[in-house]
Amino acid sequence: AKIAAVLGWPIQHSRSPLLHNFWLDRYQIDGAYIPLAVKPEDLRKVIQGMVAAGFKGCNVTIPHKEAAYLCCDRVDEAAKKMQSVNTLWFEPDGTICGTSTDGLGFVASLLDQEVSLKRCKVLILGAGGAARSVVTALSDVGAVITITNRTSSKAKQLINDLDIKANQLNWEDWPNSLEQFDLLVNTTSLGMEGKEDFAFDLTYAHPKLVVTDIVYVPRVTPLLKAAQDKGLKTVEGLGMLLHQARLGFEKWFGVNPTVDQELTEYVASSL
Ligand code: ATR
Repeated sequence: AKIAAVLGWPIQHSRSPLLHNFWLDRYQIDGAYIPLAVKPEDLRKVIQGMVAAGFKGCNVTIPHKEAAYLCCDRVDEAAKKMQSVNTLWFEPDGTICGTSTDGLGFVASLLDQEVSLKRCKVLILGAGGAARSVVTALSDVGAVITITNRTSSKAKQLINDLDIKANQLNWEDWPNSLEQFDLLVNTTSLGMEGKEDFAFDLTYAHPKLVVTDIVYVPRVTPLLKAAQDKGLKTVEGLGMLLHQARLGFEKWFGVNPTVDQELTEYVASSL
C-alpha cells in the first residue's frame, strides 16, 4: 500500500485524512493517509523516518510549514517565495521534495466558482502567513492587489518580501473604500470559531462584489453571512482546503483527483 500522512501539533482537527481517504476510496487505490501528531522538535526525524519507512510523502500543517521547508532537499519557486511548504513527496532515491499549494488551491477554488481574476481589483484583509500564499497566487494571475492589515507595518513588510506590486490601505479605512473592489478576501483570524463576534461592515460594497474567506470552520463565517445577507456572491474557504490537497494526492497516489459537490458535502458534514 502507498502511505502518506499529515503532520501537525495538534493534529486532531485536521480534515485532510477525511478528504484524502475519500479520494483513495473513490479511485480504489490501495493506500492510506494518516494523521500524525508531531512535536516541533521531532519534525525532522519524523520526516526522515517516513522516508526510511517507505512513505510516499506528507502534508504539514500548523506549526510545521516553515520548519518543513528547511527539511526539504529540493523545493520549487512557490515554496521559496513562501519560505514554507505544506506538501512533501519522497523520490525513490530518498530525495525530499516540497512545495506550497495553498496559493494555487485558493485561486483554483475561485476559478471553480467562475470568478475571473485577471485585472480583478482585490482587497486582502490581513498580512499573516495565509495572506502571503493568497497574495502571491493572486499576483501571479494578474489581479490588482490592495492589502489592509491592523498592523500596517506587517502589510508593508509582506509587499517588500514578496516583491510584488500592491497598494496599501489603512485598516480603519477599508469599509469606506469597499466600493472600488471586485473581490474581498479575509485572511485574518477574525470570524474563526471562537472569534465569531467581529462585525464586518459591508455597507459600501458594490453589488457585484465577490466575498471570500479562507476560514472554513464555521463553514459560513460571519463575513460570508454578512455578504449573503446583502445578496453578494460568496466563495467559502472549504474550496481552498480541497484544492490545495490535489497536488499531494497526485504525487503520492498517481491520480489527479477532482473536487466536486459530493466531496464538498462529505467534508462539510464533518465541520
Ligand atoms: P496566519 O498565518 O493564519 O495568517 P497570523 O500570521 O497570526 O496567522 O495572522 C493573523 C492575521 O489576522 C494578521 O493579519 C492579524 O493582524 P495583525 O498583523 O495586526 O496582528 C489579523 N488579526 C488577528 N486578530 C485581529 C483583530 N482582532 N483585528 C484585526 N486583525 C486581526
